[in-house]
Amino acid sequence: MNVETIEDLFGYQLQHAYYAERTQVELLEELAADCDDRDLESSLREHREETREHVDRLEDVFAALGRQPRASRARTVDGLAEAHRNQGDGPEQEPAPSVLETALLAERFEIRTYETLVTLAGRLAYADDVVEPLEATLAEEREMRRTLEERDRIPSVADASSPEKA
Ligand SMILES: [Fe+2]
Ligand SMILES: [Fe+2]
Repeated sequence: MNVETIEDLFGYQLQHAYYAERTQVELLEELAADCDDRDLESSLREHREETREHVDRLEDVFAALGRQPRASRARTVDGLAEAHRNQGDGPEQEPAPSVLETALLAERFEIRTYETLVTLAGRLAYADDVVEPLEATLAEEREMRRTLEERDRIPSVADASSPEKA
């Protein structure tokens, strides 16, 4: 895809967002399944349901622009999913990021993507049917980041019982 105009850049980012959200539906399920903290697990599952809505909203945005939904690979999200899936493979593996770290990095990536989309949509003077779904999702991503950052400040039982790991 040639990116020559702001409109092209918006379209490109939108396709990345679509890819990232669909990947997130799967990744959040995997993170929830691998999580031994019940509160975190339920936050991840709730956000997975919101993420399905994020996919639908992006499809609405494509429709508002008169386009078919298309996904472009977002390597950051693929990298996070791969790092999580490969943990424990082989003795030489780097320590994999925790469920919480992976979830936080994914939210921060989504927030950056939606902030860019909202900014570009403003510059392109797109109508509410494009801007509002993006803003609604951005608000939910920020809320999820806040939830995860709060959890990140709570020492886990595992940390407390094995201080040498700190
Ligand atoms: Fe999302
Ligand atoms: Fe998210």
